[in-house]
Amino acid sequence: MLAICPLHSKGFKLKFRTFEDFRKFVRDTPGARSCIVRCDLNLPSSVRDLSRVYAMKDTVEAVLDLGLRVVLISHYKRPKPEDRFDRKFSLSAVVNDVSEVLGREIQFIEGSVFDVNPAVIDSEVVLLENLRFYDGETQNDSDFAKILASYGDIYINEAFSVSHREHASVCAITKYIPSFAGLSLQNEVRWLSKLLQGIERPYTAIIGGSKVSTKMDVLKKVSQIADNLVITGAMANTFLTARGFDMQSSLIEKELLSEAEEIMKSSKAKITLPIDLVVSPNLETPGTSCGLGAIPPGQACFDIGKETVMLIQEIISRSKTLLWNGAIGAFEFSNFGEATEILAESIADLTRRGEIISIIGGGETIASVGPHKNDMSFASTAGGAFLEFVSGFDLPGLQQLTF
Ligand code: 3PG
Repeated sequence: MLAICPLHSKGFKLKFRTFEDFRKFVRDTPGARSCIVRCDLNLPSSVRDLSRVYAMKDTVEAVLDLGLRVVLISHYKRPKPEDRFDRKFSLSAVVNDVSEVLGREIQFIEGSVFDVNPAVIDSEVVLLENLRFYDGETQNDSDFAKILASYGDIYINEAFSVSHREHASVCAITKYIPSFAGLSLQNEVRWLSKLLQGIERPYTAIIGGSKVSTKMDVLKKVSQIADNLVITGAMANTFLTARGFDMQSSLIEKELLSEAEEIMKSSKAKITLPIDLVVSPNLETPGTSCGLGAIPPGQACFDIGKETVMLIQEIISRSKTLLWNGAIGAFEFSNFGEATEILAESIADLTRRGEIISIIGGGETIASVGPHKNDMSFASTAGGAFLEFVSGFDLPGLQQLTF
């Protein structure tokens, strides 16, 4: 009996080839020797964050326990054609980290996937070189996918964070070998689905970050399904401008003013914008509190003010489900990280006490909450894929695992 995951697609539940199906398949297929695990080793370079490696650990161990060899495949950053096989973009950079987290030796296969003979690989866990060194990867090319597929008998997608990309290692490969979902991918889908169906209400979404343009879809979606939509970060400047406030030198996307107005007009959720601000001439100078419409000329808004923090705390305390994506202020600069710290602590506290389900996602958001991440109900390893999923889009990589 195949398990059904709450994978959304145009309102239907689809049958999803789960990790349990994989176990059964291996038990029923004595000839299977090796399993390709598509993971996401595109680790941030600015901070040491190994969440994506920890996320795949259970799957790798379970595959090894079933007696199969593991062939790890991943992309790393976005090399241009002239960067191919440049060490700066080589996955060799993460081998030690992966080996440390998995607690075992990893054999790194340095050469081109076209030159290596998969039959001679005999280590328990191997890692192939950056898939984005090949055009076929981003072109979702069938011939390239066949080469990748020749490295294993079975395929597991353990990279939810890349499942919004129609790439060969995520999509085309599934046509050539039996393909299943990894444990962490399933967990992502299970948690993020909570934001789209069967939400415990009141449901509050805090959406921040610098640009409205990158969050338009998620703003539109949550404004229709959440009870409260709190807009923060630099993107709130555009909304405040649309409401008629002079934001002086703050970052504003003028071309999106009418879209911002439209979102506010058509929103079913109650929209909350900052009611006070922290402003400064630049990021290096400590900020001062300031009311709306009172920003001194030449100054810009870099954080929300204390009144706004209290207002958001009050909204959160009445909520049962919380989505948080995007930075609240310019938290990377110590002058403007206070609101983020207070709110992250409040959400972590409510979550620990079981009063709220908190789901956060996006690299910047996770970095902004620091150790509070561990107190959230769920912290997604994904950035773009997280936004697309919670905006209601079908991710091509997940579609391949359904039937
Ligand atoms: C991510 O970091 O969000 C994933 O690894 C996807 O990377 P990409 O945006 O370069 O496809």
